[in-house]
Order: sequence, then structure tokens, then C-alpha cells
Amino acid sequence: MNICVTGGAGFIGSHLTDRLIEEGHRVLVIDNLFTGSREFVNAKADFREMDIRDTALTEVLLEFKPDYVFHEAAQTMVPVSMEKPALDCDINLMGLINVLNACRAAHVKKLIMPSSAAVYGDLDTLPLTEAMQGAPSSFYGLTKLTTESYLRIYKEAFGLDYICFRYSNVYGPRQGHGGEGGVISIFCERLAKGQGVTVYGDGEQTRDFIYVGDVVEANMLALQHTECSGVYNVSTEVGTSLNTLLNELKSIIGTDIDVTYEPTRTGDIKHSRLSIKKSNDNLGFRAKIDLTSGLKTTYHYFADMENFDM
Ligand SMILES: NC(=O)c1ccc[n+]([C@@H]2O[C@H](COP(=O)([O-])OP(=O)(O)OC[C@H]3O[C@@H](n4cnc5c(N)ncnc54)[C@H](O)[C@@H]3O)[C@@H](O)[C@H]2O)c1
Repeated sequence: MNICVTGGAGFIGSHLTDRLIEEGHRVLVIDNLFTGSREFVNAKADFREMDIRDTALTEVLLEFKPDYVFHEAAQTMVPVSMEKPALDCDINLMGLINVLNACRAAHVKKLIMPSSAAVYGDLDTLPLTEAMQGAPSSFYGLTKLTTESYLRIYKEAFGLDYICFRYSNVYGPRQGHGGEGGVISIFCERLAKGQGVTVYGDGEQTRDFIYVGDVVEANMLALQHTECSGVYNVSTEVGTSLNTLLNELKSIIGTDIDVTYEPTRTGDIKHSRLSIKKSNDNLGFRAKIDLTSGLKTTYHYFADMENFDM
């Protein structure tokens, strides 16, 4: 099939593109390289350096005729959304509207894209289910929550089908520092350089860390289950504390880790864990990569980069 991946030069989008190419699809990557890297774009994909807010996107899709569009391009950094809410809104909502209009014009069968666990805010009834009404604590969470409503109304008003995934904290090779699951890439990169790490709070805060390969798998299931539509969590339903994470990394590296504990940052959520019942029941999704294997692959990716740079 013809498949367009926006954000295909980024962390998740580039892994998704690799898998789609592997499965024999023809892939067009659209990315303005804001946080992405040209080197991450699969050599067999067509690449268009372009902003998702550019209205010429419609012509590009009309020409490529994608069956499906995966829209991974976004402003992904929570602190940036707080410093520059207008920029966050412009990319994540005005950009989204441009993508939705282009998909409509090109008669795309379905738009598959992420929302985020950030839409839940600091709800304390765990695990978090899709039916729960959260109050996001950042503008990033707000643009993601609003995204879900745009998708619903575009479907109801114009018949554009969609699946929207609330990813938990994604980690793996190629991840940058700024995004949501960034703590693992920050830890791995610093440890690979022989540096210590900083933990904000007592380290007992928990997150639902999911390996990027499992996130790609959820997206592939969305292609198979054409009958599914709406919002789905993509997570492991396992909460892991930062202290546990550091112990795992200690075993992988085989040396002690120098950890500095700093006061909790305002706005930091204590615990986050997302239910996978709905995605398991409807899409047959279940995360397969355990934390130890995922962390090993991620740490070695950063360690190899370090050796390469020396
Ligand atoms: N990583 C996580 O833990 C996580 C969790 C929940 C949701 N998400 C969502 O998953 C998606 C992918 O995130 P990621 O972690 O791969 O981030 P990323 O920053 O690595 O990838 C985003 C990509 O979008 C591109 N981009 C940004 N603005 C653009 C624009 N205006 N026009 C064209 N391209 C643009 C960037 O260059 C980059 O390649 C995002 O929607 C993000 O919000 C990520």
C-alpha cells in the first residue's frame, strides 16, 4: 500500500517507517527536521522536507495517493509547550488541521496518530482507562486532548476515519532528550559517557515505560483492524519507578551509578500507568518487550554512538 508517515525522521516515526518498508509498503516521509534527523529516514522511503503546516501538503498527498497516513510529526516537548504555547498550538493543532484537510482531499482511508498519556494529567485512579476524563497539566497535554476532539469531529462531519493512540512513556534507540519518555535516553546517554545522573524527587515516582518496537506493533495492528476506530491506550500497564530503572541499568552496565537527588519539579506527576484492556480486546495488542531487554538495546545504542564519536 501507499503510506505517508509525517514525522518519519523522528524517533517513533523512523522506526515505524522501517517496519512499513520491511512489510513491503511504499512510504512517503514528510518531516521538516525540527527535532528529527535525515539519517534516521529509511533509504527506501521517499522523503519530502516539508512543514506539516504548509498548505502544499494537500497537493503532495493528492499526488502520492496514500491509503493510510500515520501522523507522528509534532512539537513533542512539554517544557517548550509551557514556554511557547503559541508554537505548540500552531504545530500540534494548526498543523493537525492542515493534515486532516489534506487527508480528506486525498480520500485517505484512515489517519492513525498519537495522542499521549499527558491528556490524563494527575489522575490518581490507576490504571488509567480511555473513558476517564483527565485535566492536562501542560499545554502539550491540552493540544493532545484537543487533537482527539478534532479527530472525532472530522470523522462525524466528514467521514475521515481515525485511530488515536495514547502512548505512555516511549523509549528506545534514536530517542532525543526533550520528548516525554526522554528520561531513559538521558540516563543512557549520560551513563554511556561515564557521567552521573540527576533524579528529581525521591526516585519512587513511577511511569509506564514502553519500548518503541511495541508502539510500532500497535500501529501495525491498526492497519490490520480496519473495523477499529477511536482512542486507545498504548502502554505496558506496568509502573516502574526511576529507582528500579537505575537498578536495572546498574546491572546492565556492571558498575555503580552516581545519582544526585534534587527536589521534585513543579507539575511532575507522581504515578502514571495506563490500562491496555481496550487495545488488547479490540486490537489484540499486548506489549512484548520487557524492560530489561528494551533497556539493554537502548543503552547499547547510546554506548555504540559514544564509541563511534571518540
Ligand atoms: N516519545 C514519547 O514518549 C511519546 C509519548 C506520547 C506521545 N508521543 C507522540 O508521538 C509522536 C512522535 O514523537 P517522538 O517521540 O518520535 O518525537 P520526535 O521529536 O522524535 O519526532 C517528531 C518528528 O516531527 C517532526 N516535526 C516537528 N514539527 C514538524 C512540522 N511542523 N512539520 C513537519 N515535521 C515536524 C520532527 O522533525 C521530528 O522528526 C508525537 O506526536 C508525540 O507527541 C510520544
